[in-house]
Amino acid sequence: MNRKQFIATLGAGALGAKALASSAETAVNKPAPQPVPLDTLLSLDDVEAAAQERMDPAVYAFVAGGAADELTIRWNREKYREIRLQQRVLQDLSGLDCSTTLLGQPMKSPILVAPSANHRLVHPEGELATARGAGMAGATMVLSSGANTSIEDVMRVATHPIWFQLYVAKDRGLAKALVERVQAAGARALCVTVDSSLDGPRNRQNRAKLVIPPGIGYPHYAGITEPPTVVTLDEVRPMLLDWRDIEWIQSCARIPVLLKGIMNPADAAMAVKLGVAGIIVSNHGGRCIDTQPATIEALPRVVEQVAGRVPVIVDGGIRRGTDVVKALALGANAVQLGRPCLYGLAVHGAEGVAHVLKVLRQELLLSMAVLGRRRLSDIDRSVLWT
Ligand SMILES: Cc1cc2nc3c(=O)[nH]c(=O)nc-3n(C[C@H](O)[C@H](O)[C@H](O)COP(=O)(O)O)c2cc1C
Repeated sequence: MNRKQFIATLGAGALGAKALASSAETAVNKPAPQPVPLDTLLSLDDVEAAAQERMDPAVYAFVAGGAADELTIRWNREKYREIRLQQRVLQDLSGLDCSTTLLGQPMKSPILVAPSANHRLVHPEGELATARGAGMAGATMVLSSGANTSIEDVMRVATHPIWFQLYVAKDRGLAKALVERVQAAGARALCVTVDSSLDGPRNRQNRAKLVIPPGIGYPHYAGITEPPTVVTLDEVRPMLLDWRDIEWIQSCARIPVLLKGIMNPADAAMAVKLGVAGIIVSNHGGRCIDTQPATIEALPRVVEQVAGRVPVIVDGGIRRGTDVVKALALGANAVQLGRPCLYGLAVHGAEGVAHVLKVLRQELLLSMAVLGRRRLSDIDRSVLWT
């Protein structure tokens, strides 16, 4: 495996290396997919179905799949469905509004684009289209370390603030240089992913024999020279961090540092003690270790521990406006959307991404209206049926 293929595995899952190295046709080599009228895609599940029809099966498996038996992926969604809502009627709903402020940044809604690698596998314009789509919807995009487009290029098309997700390279000089580079480019926050030192077996993706085609680059990993294989823990050391590394990253960063991938309240407590600017409750969309609980189950415990000292963001399985309401009711300040943005990207590039974000925001507003909550601050546990 060459360096590029190794680096590809950072985004695709360390144990997916073998599959990545095998040969298969890829989306990027295919003719542009037939456009689908976006107004026929009423829900995020509609967008996924349309995307699945158009995506290369191996790329779809990479996006939709996760670790092992994918139970965590399923639970991430199911647990939202088990939570019931309780409305208030006859409320004053004038000026219905789902805008918020996060880390001092005004936002049109509490919905961000979660970081994900390899957007050029999904659409030829890759992260450029995602950033444009996020901007069209007035949402913040978190750009992945494993992006195929550089932060500098993304910033040129971005019309809304961009945050950067950091995988910390073993070579701390390179890691520091990347932090400085993304700050210089104008990233507003740094989300350090702490949950993916190793991935579970990516069976679905490996069966589908995904390959990263030539021409797909990883501009944020320039200069990294790593061992040629990634089969042992030792060889993926660049992604193994400890709390001292977090302190070190904070000392390098001039922008807020958030930790992404916190599920355990004890880790949340430690993070707050170290002065992080925010916590992202995430199980990596069920891609790292299967049978972790749903993030909506972990959220209340983390929120209790954090006790309002820093914002808490949650991702995983959010597909409906009512899911956003439930996350906020259980203490989240905002949510991130992963796979649905990639499906939007697959069906219609930037417009598809914008469509997904707009549908979810519209559903959120609708839910708030019907539930009798005029502002996000009106959403608390009383909106849940207990
Ligand atoms: C294809 C794909 C690639 C991803 N790549 C990254 C990544 O590079 N860094 C990261 O922190 N999280 C990554 N994630 C995890 C997402 O940031 C997010 O936690 C997850 O997708 C949320 O779940 P959802 O897809 O159900 O919304 C990726 C997810 C997917 C689906």
